[in-house]
Amino acid sequence: MKPKIFVTRPLPQEALNLLATHCEVQVHPADSALKPAQVGEACRDVEGLLAVGVRVNEEVLSQAGKLRVVANCGVGYDSIDVAACTQRKIVVTNTPGVLTDTTADLAFALLLAVARRVVEADRFVREGRWQRWEFAMMWGADIHHKTLGIYGLGRIGQAMARRGRGFDMQILYHSRRRADGAIEHELGAHYVDRETILRESDFLSLHTPLTPDTHHLIGAREFSLMKPSAFLINTARGKAVDEEALVAALKSRRIAGAGLDVFEHEPHLHPELPKLVNVVLLPHVGSATAETRLGMAMLAAENLLAALEGRRPPNVVNPEVYS
Ligand code: DGY
Repeated sequence: MKPKIFVTRPLPQEALNLLATHCEVQVHPADSALKPAQVGEACRDVEGLLAVGVRVNEEVLSQAGKLRVVANCGVGYDSIDVAACTQRKIVVTNTPGVLTDTTADLAFALLLAVARRVVEADRFVREGRWQRWEFAMMWGADIHHKTLGIYGLGRIGQAMARRGRGFDMQILYHSRRRADGAIEHELGAHYVDRETILRESDFLSLHTPLTPDTHHLIGAREFSLMKPSAFLINTARGKAVDEEALVAALKSRRIAGAGLDVFEHEPHLHPELPKLVNVVLLPHVGSATAETRLGMAMLAAENLLAALEGRRPPNVVNPEVYS
């Protein structure tokens, strides 16, 4: 008999076909976030959960007595209570690698857009406000030869550094662990302490996972150290930034601007954010390309199938379950 699995949102057919060859698949038909109680209810009888944009916590796990694997369709797994899964010997997997360049592309797009006022200028033209060419119109900030500070030099941080190098930027980074010399050399990246990256970056781009240590990593104190001409780029997690402090820093021009793909209480925005001209706001679309979303779905499916077949999945988040 095929094991039963639950998929929390519709996925590309190719991934569903792969799953269906090995499993009895139930898919939630709408692309909207189920509440934990609903996920738990759907998981009463299943051995595998393919989690796409849902929380997996005690409320889910306490109802899912047969669950053996939670395959997260995403690289960040702060929405999954990994400790609670480990306690129950449930394997947790994620989808790193396939979305690295796509997310870095978007981070760099935000950087370009906010520095060169691309969205603001587009709005200006569309709204028929452009009357004549002016020498002093829409001045932005240069990107080339500036200093790009990368907070978190994991896969996506490294890909961002490569993009910065392409624009002749100087690359500084700060990370939990210093990268090895070969990586620093390849990226031309200089390791600096937390205070230096805040003080010296013209563009500070966040690439850290959300953990208790990175919650409100950037707040009022950090903004006070940044250059008034600096821009913050966040494609990592909204809760890494104290949004109240960010709004204050943007309003007072303590910093020059921000490019944000993620928000502290997304999809809800701080009410002041949309009123500001010095921000570019995106709806958490870092990995949203056709190629990458298919890659994520296929990798999540492969992880899930491996775990159900007793093989070690390629992307295990809690390897302790195997010891
Ligand atoms: C990720 O992969 O973590 C993206 O943010 C989608 O959740």
